[in-house]
Order: sequence, then C-alpha cells, then structure tokens
Amino acid sequence: MRRTETEAAMSNGHDTYPPSTFIGLRTKFVLFISLVIIAVCSGLSWYFIRQQSDAMTRALVSSGSILVKNLSHNSRYGLVAKDLVLLDQLIAGVMEVDESVYIIFIGPDGKRLAAKSKRNVYPSHTIAESLFRSDSQDVTITPFTAIGSGGGEALYDFAVAVRRGNERQAPFSLLTFESEESQDDSATAEQSSERIYGVVQIGVTGAKMHEALNRMIGNVILITIAVILSGIFAAVVLTRRITTPLRNLVDVARRVAGGDLTASVGPMTRDEVGQLTTVFSQMTVSLRERDSAVKQAYQELEQLNRTLEQRVHQRTSELQTANEKLKELDHLKSQFVSIVSHELRTPMTSIKGYVENLLDGLAGALTHKQTYSLDRVKHNVERLTRMINELLDLSKIEAGRLELTLAPVALSEIAEEVVESYQAAASQRSIVLRAVDHQPLPMVMGDADKLSRVLINLVHNAIKFTPQGGEIQVEGRMHDGGHVEVSVTDSGNGIPAHDLKRIFDKFYWSESAPVEARGAGLGLAIAKNLVELHGGTISVESTLGQGSRFSFTVPIAHS
Ligand SMILES: Nc1ncnc2c1ncn2[C@@H]1O[C@H](COP(=O)(O)OP(=O)(O)OP(=O)(O)O)[C@@H](O)[C@H]1O
Ligand SMILES: [Mg+2]
Repeated sequence: MRRTETEAAMSNGHDTYPPSTFIGLRTKFVLFISLVIIAVCSGLSWYFIRQQSDAMTRALVSSGSILVKNLSHNSRYGLVAKDLVLLDQLIAGVMEVDESVYIIFIGPDGKRLAAKSKRNVYPSHTIAESLFRSDSQDVTITPFTAIGSGGGEALYDFAVAVRRGNERQAPFSLLTFESEESQDDSATAEQSSERIYGVVQIGVTGAKMHEALNRMIGNVILITIAVILSGIFAAVVLTRRITTPLRNLVDVARRVAGGDLTASVGPMTRDEVGQLTTVFSQMTVSLRERDSAVKQAYQELEQLNRTLEQRVHQRTSELQTANEKLKELDHLKSQFVSIVSHELRTPMTSIKGYVENLLDGLAGALTHKQTYSLDRVKHNVERLTRMINELLDLSKIEAGRLELTLAPVALSEIAEEVVESYQAAASQRSIVLRAVDHQPLPMVMGDADKLSRVLINLVHNAIKFTPQGGEIQVEGRMHDGGHVEVSVTDSGNGIPAHDLKRIFDKFYWSESAPVEARGAGLGLAIAKNLVELHGGTISVESTLGQGSRFSFTVPIAHS
C-alpha cells in the first residue's frame, strides 16, 4: 500500500518541521526556567551586596566620626596649651586602633603641632584650611585614595575643628562631606579662626571593610551560583518528568501513523500527560479493531468480487451460447422465409395466370357475380405476391445477400417512369399524381432497379393513404451539394408525431392508416435499407390530417 504524505512526514525525523527549526519542549522549559532563576538570583545578590556595602560604609563613617569627635574633645586642652605630651598620648591611643592610618593635630595658627602616620600617608592640607575658614562644627569626611607601593588604598579623612563653644556641643552631630561645605567670605573666616583652638584629623583605612565586602561578595556569588545550578538541575529533572512520557507518546504515535497499530504505551505519570497517554492507548486499540474490521470487510469484498467475476463469466458464456443459438435460429428463420417465399411465388404466379384466363373468358362466359369474385381473388393474389416479394427482399437484405449493381442513374427519369406507371391507379381514386422538375439534376450513383423500388414503395403508400381527390407530387432537387433528393408529398391522412420515429421499423403500422390500406408493414423498412445501402438517408415529415412528405437522398455520381 502507498504511504500517505503525513505518514512520510511523521516518520521523517521531527514531524513536519525541518530539523534546524525544531526546538524540544525540554530545551524550551529548561532555557526559560534557567533564565528566570539567573535573573532573580543575580538581582537579589546585587541588592544584598549593595545593602551590605552601604551598611558597612555607614558603620565606618559612624565610628570614624565618633573617634574624631572624642579626640577633639579630649585634645582641646592640649591644643590650647600646646601640650605635646598630652597630644602624643592621644596619638598613641588612637594609633592602637587597627583601622587608624594617621592622626594630625593642628594648632590655632594653622601649624601642625603633632602628627603620626603608619604608612607615611597624609591628607591634603586644604581640608584643614577650609575648616579654619568655615564656622562648621560638623565632622568633615573626605574619602581619598593613597597611592602606595602596594597600589591604591581607600582612606577616609575625618576632620573636625575644635572650637571655643564646643564644650556644650554634643559629641555627635550632623555629618557633612567636604563638598557640601559652605564657602564663607574672608571676614567670616577671620572671625571663625579667632574662635578655633585647632583642627584634629584622623585617617581611617577602608581596606578592611573592602576586604570583608569582597569576602562577602565572593560568598554571595558562590551561593548564587549554587542556587542557580540547583534550580537548573531541578528544572531539568522536572521537565524530564513531563517530556519523557511525551516523547514516548510521540514515538508510539509515529509508529501508529506509519501503520504499526500494535505499538502501545502505558501511562507513566498521574497527571494530564498520563491521561493523554491513556486516551491515546484507547484510541490505538479502537484503531486496531477498526483496522481488523476493515481488513475483514476487504477480504469479504474480494471474495464477493471473485464470486461476482465467476458469475459474470458464467453468464457471459451462457449469453454467448444463447446468442449463437439465436443467430442460428435467425439464420434458419431467414432461410425458412426465403425458401417458403420462393416456394410460394410459383403457385401464386400459377393461380394469378389461371384467374386471368378465367377472367378473359377462356373457360367460358362468366356471370357478373363470378367476375366480381375472380377480381377479388386476383387483387388478393397480387397483394400476397407483393408481400412474398417484400419478405424475400428483406430476408436477402438481412442476410447480406442483396448486392447493388451501381451505375450512374438519372433519378428524374426513374421518377417519371414510376409516376407514369401509377397514373392509372391514381386516377382510379381521382388523385392528381405528378412529377416536378425545377432544374436539371446530375446523375446519381445507384442501382436503377432498387431505386425504382424505393420510389414505387413511397408512391404506392401515398396513393393508398390519400383520400379521393387528393394530390401527390414527386419532386427532385439538389441536396447538400453532394446528393440528389427525391421527395413524395401527399395531401393524405398524415402520421401522428409519436409514430414518426418508428415508421421505418418492419411490421409497423400507424393507427391513423385505414386497415384496408395496410399491407405487411415492410415497404418503408425495405426502402430505408435500400437507401442506406446506397449511402443516402431517408426521412419523413408529416402533419396529421394534412399530409406527409417522404424524402430520400442518393450520392451524385462523379465522372
Ligand atoms: N404516405 C403515407 N401517409 C400516411 N401514412 C403512411 C404513408 N406511408 C406510410 N404510412 C404509414 O406507414 C405504415 C408503414 O408503411 P409501409 O409501407 O412500411 O407498410 P404498408 O404500406 O402498410 O405495407 P407494405 O408496404 O408492406 O405493403 C403504413 O401502414 C402507414 O400506416
Ligand atoms: Mg407500403
């Protein structure tokens, strides 16, 4: 059996899609879920790191500010009195703190009184100068990068001016960065510098904070990667649970589409996919049942077909035998008709001869009644003889034994002869019978004797079926350029329309014809056969009660 296009497509890799455009459900699921997990985890991690970084920076800034505030409070006396011992003690205390990088005490005159740095790193002196110019009591925090041998180090400079009114000031106040400081004019600066004892600056390193931050970022990244990987793994496992039964189902469906109805698959999961698998299995079973039913029906049909063929064969041979028998019977019938007709003609001729002798008075004088009776006998013998002749002609035509002796013939001459010979019969019934010639007609190729019989038949019919005082016209004319047409038109009974198509059948009479005028019903059948033997056609047009027009054509003789 020829496989359908769908079957071919199903068995051809990934169904109807070209392999390059097919993306499996599993790949799509895993890709989508992985992208979502990566996006969510990365976002959360970034947010967490940002929060932590901000919190650490705030903590560093807060502790640095507290330290410098305390120091400014404790160093007020040392700055005023320029007590270097006290300041050194304070410096030593501060330098013990790991994050401290440097400490600077600047006197009211703007000169450094004491300073110490762990890595020989100091801030720009502009920070302190700006504090002398302003009257801000806040801690100025300036982040900067110290370039050292080990690369750049992030430092935060915490500077605060020690002022006369600072005694009542709380150790903590609003923290502002250098960039936010207001720029005082020189007069204000002078005023403020008169009230300043000095400036304290501490440098605090952000390295530890950055180190902790980096460690935390590393951990967060590791955790994020672990979460993403486990998420992807879970997505793979989950989608495998969904797609594996689906793939099995696709494989089985492909086999079923390829004609293997024995392929089956059981439900692997208790979900929609499992339900689908169950329904598919039921469908395969019903398909199998239908297939076997169709196969059985096909076998039965084949068997029936074989039986039918045998029967047809048998009937054909029976028909052939019957046909042969019929042909044989037909042949026997023609033979019988031919023999009987032939055998009847001789006694008929003899009877006719004797009757004519009697009528001629050779056997003595006849009474009026005897003459009348003998006239009827003669008439009927003639009628019988015509019928016998017609039967003989028809059996000859049907047996194919009638042969034409073709020669160029003048149809108009034949017409005149026939009209002439039937003139007496016509005038007996007061019928006007005439031949009309409009133009000189060419010779036709035909058998003069047979064409004469065709015309005799038509004229004889016309006389028979035309009432007294009627009119009959025999006319010749050209037809189609290649034929001559002869027509016999009468003003007789006419033929009903329903009889017209059967009028040329043998043994057929029209109901409209008077019974006494009817003959054997063979005249027109013989005429039709004879015309067709010549290669012409015969036809009739008739209107009931008005008359008929019979016409036939004969091919022109080519010289
Ligand atoms: N000119 C005609 N007018 C009216 N009816 C006709 C005419 N010619 C033939 N028919 C009808 O056609 C029938 C068949 O004509 P056909 O010549 O074959 O037979 P027939 O004349 O009855 O007998 P046969 O010619 O054998 O002696 C006639 O019986 C008649 O009913
Ligand atoms: Mg006739």
